Amino acid sequence: MNVGLKIMTVLVVGGGGREHAVCAAIKKSPKCTRLLCAPGNGGIAKIAECFPTVSATDVDAVVELAKRENVDYVAVTTDEALAAGTVDALEVVGIPAFGPRKNAAIIESSKAFSKALMKKYNIPTAKYEIFDERSAAVEYVKSQGAPIVVKADGLALGKGVVVAQTVDEAIEFIDELMLNGKFGASGAKVVIEEYLTGREVTALVLTDGKTLMPLPSSMDHKRVYDNDEGPNTGGMGAISPSPLYSREFADASFQRIFIPTMNALNAESRTFKGVIYFELMLTTDGPKVIEYNARFGDPETQAVLPLIKSDMLELMLSVTEERLSEMSLELTREASCCVVVASGGYPVKYDTGKKISGIDDTEALDAIVYHAGTKLIADGEYVTSGGRVLGVTCTAADLPTAIQRAYSAVEKISFDGMHYRKDIGRRIGSDDRRAI
Ligand code: AMP
Ligand code: GLY
Repeated sequence: MNVGLKIMTVLVVGGGGREHAVCAAIKKSPKCTRLLCAPGNGGIAKIAECFPTVSATDVDAVVELAKRENVDYVAVTTDEALAAGTVDALEVVGIPAFGPRKNAAIIESSKAFSKALMKKYNIPTAKYEIFDERSAAVEYVKSQGAPIVVKADGLALGKGVVVAQTVDEAIEFIDELMLNGKFGASGAKVVIEEYLTGREVTALVLTDGKTLMPLPSSMDHKRVYDNDEGPNTGGMGAISPSPLYSREFADASFQRIFIPTMNALNAESRTFKGVIYFELMLTTDGPKVIEYNARFGDPETQAVLPLIKSDMLELMLSVTEERLSEMSLELTREASCCVVVASGGYPVKYDTGKKISGIDDTEALDAIVYHAGTKLIADGEYVTSGGRVLGVTCTAADLPTAIQRAYSAVEKISFDGMHYRKDIGRRIGSDDRRAI
């Protein structure tokens, strides 16, 4: 392994807002002398050498690139790349990488696997049943009644879940998955689970399989419109830390969920090295797992990483080298808010190629503009190239100020059809505290 070198060439695999935030954090490390990103995007191109023709999901192409460019360390941060075994393939050619191997990334790529793991090891989660036959699934939904939650087993870009308010709605989604093949093989098996009430929190936890290091908590906003209305998206904004995640919930989550999950994966010979994304529901019975992801969240990462003072590359290396216990986490003690700016029509149908203006005007406001779906067409000139276009983040001593500053920055930006939620972080009030 070359990771003991003082300086290194680092490759980040992916091209969204999360990868921009990861690149920016790694770039700050004195250890990183050369930063590459595949495929990258318009904004990442300002801080890293991008390889737009290398798809994040093309394992062979990523390995080829890493070999050709003498890369010392790779950060694999997208779900599909992890599920496809990119980390394993890099290991085969002697290049260490941040992220779980394929056999541990399964905690995200199969909900059926992760539910069974939680059941076996008594990790608190919603009660559930798994079906690979439509009629049995429909009978079960009828017997349970609504509200009830229907999930595709496999990866579905965060869109494979319906919280059905009626039995008919649940059956409709079962039909889409099992009859119409909406998510292909990902929906051949469905998980049907108990509807949980409470507030949601994201906990990103670094682990090398021996030690756990929780990063600041956060909270995503998945629905496309204000007041949590409209269809689910990849995430429309995030705040960090979550004011709902009290010390009591944090301690309970650590003892009852994080440690048992790490131990369970070790016991199953699926040691997880990387970052586990615990999506938690804070219920009156304590925290419960809604789902696991095997990677940093998007856009949570854009809110969380600016709060970390420690050298992120050093932390990631310590995970890969199984010496996380030697590290400490230094935080700014601030709060942050990331507002996602999206293309008109997202998450359904949207146009690309719209000229973006105003990004430079946000500098005076100390905003960090993470690019998600942009293309650089000339110096300082960007056009849209995806559904989620930018993640505008501000930090401040307290959350209300961070939110207000992020929105001041968003208002400087414009492109044809642009839309964003106006209530990121604003729905947390005293009522919510009582609700849990
Ligand atoms: P997932 O893709 O599993 O994160 O689910 C997407 C969203 O559906 C979550 O963020 C929750 O808001 C909601 N959800 C998932 N599972 C449940 C559940 N068992 N009870 C209530 N809401 C849920
Ligand atoms: N923000 C949700 C996710 O990254 O899965």
